[in-house]
Amino acid sequence: MVLGVTGGIAAYKAADLLRKLTESGLDVTVVPTREALRFVGAPTWEALSGKPVSTEVFENITDVPHVRIGQTADLVVVAPATANTMARAAHGMADDLLTNVLLTARCPVVFAPAMHTEMWEHAATQANVATLRERGALVIEPAEGRLTGKDTGKGRLPEPAEIAELCAEILARGRAELDLTGRHVVVSAGGTREYLDPVRFLGNRSSGLQGYALARAAAARGASVTLVAANVTLSDPAGVKVVRVESTSELRDAVLAESRAADAIVMAAAPADFRPTSFSDSKIKKAGDGSAPSIELEQNPDILATISHERSHPGQIVVGFAAETGDATGSVLELGRAKLARKGCDLLVVNDVSGGKVFGHADNEAVILSADGSSVDVPSGSKAVLSHVIWDQVTGLFSAQPTTDLQE
Ligand code: CTP
Repeated sequence: MVLGVTGGIAAYKAADLLRKLTESGLDVTVVPTREALRFVGAPTWEALSGKPVSTEVFENITDVPHVRIGQTADLVVVAPATANTMARAAHGMADDLLTNVLLTARCPVVFAPAMHTEMWEHAATQANVATLRERGALVIEPAEGRLTGKDTGKGRLPEPAEIAELCAEILARGRAELDLTGRHVVVSAGGTREYLDPVRFLGNRSSGLQGYALARAAAARGASVTLVAANVTLSDPAGVKVVRVESTSELRDAVLAESRAADAIVMAAAPADFRPTSFSDSKIKKAGDGSAPSIELEQNPDILATISHERSHPGQIVVGFAAETGDATGSVLELGRAKLARKGCDLLVVNDVSGGKVFGHADNEAVILSADGSSVDVPSGSKAVLSHVIWDQVTGLFSAQPTTDLQE
């Protein structure tokens, strides 16, 4: 693969990205711009990639590098991508080796922009980003947070480990399938906490791994993704907007607000079904007589049922998850079918969690039930693989929808 590095301060993070890519066994050719070398010198890129680097077209001419590097790449990632390089790429310029590579590459191309918020938001940059996306490049959204100086805002390079994860996902699929481009999706993840007092809460064992894998997969397929995360300690997936919540009512408010303009919502979170009827402002103390306090609970709102029954626009797809163990009233699948009907969602991903399976594990096994009565078995595999099968089902539902005049 090719790692294009352009002239922004985040170039120093690209050294870490390169390290992660080569450690995972990838053969990486680094193509920096002249300005990138003002931040991090050629010896760093050469030492970490094990190959010479060049910024120029007129070097090693017999090797025709300006054509060969792009033609033979399986993936090109430009990280960080400055406003200037994206502008040059959007206009098809070829004034250095990297822009030549971008013109000759026929493999998936990913841009991870990093710049000040004002530069990112400028109409010129946004138009260039739109052009690159229209032509099939994956331009991920910058992260929010601390920028070069003391200021904060949108424009940070996502964590190198997450960019490496995105590269691995695209390479594993062997293609950049950008079938969610132009779609806005909302994914919830993690387990909510219902506080009894300032230090104690009722919670559950959800790790957030499946929701994060879903968000990552949707971003890799070109979607604009909002991840509503309840008490998850995982790092933010590259290109994904993360909204953090704690309780079920906070999760509900965030999901409802984010869902208004969403084309699809996937409720992978495990919201607590019950909350204490009262919250003690001070820590609850042990009684001197050894008696234990009783906790009175009330039911939380059912977010999945609410968004399924009150869709903000026709055609919005809602996906739920069901963690079932099966019981005397029915098997795992029977309980899943009943839940799909009760909740009113389009798809229900049913996990068998008897015996502590699934929670906190990298792998998952599921059956995806559809409201039309069909089902898809997903054999045991990574949560990334299950995520892509779920998005395959969602894109299938999108394409089954009648097109409006506007879409035509
Ligand atoms: N869910 C939700 N709001 C809740 C509880 C659950 O939106 N208050 C969603 C979960 O995110 C998941 C689905 O509903 O997508 C299934 O959750 P589950 O807890 O299995 O469903 P329950 O309705 O609580 O059914 P049960 O009585 O079997 O626990």
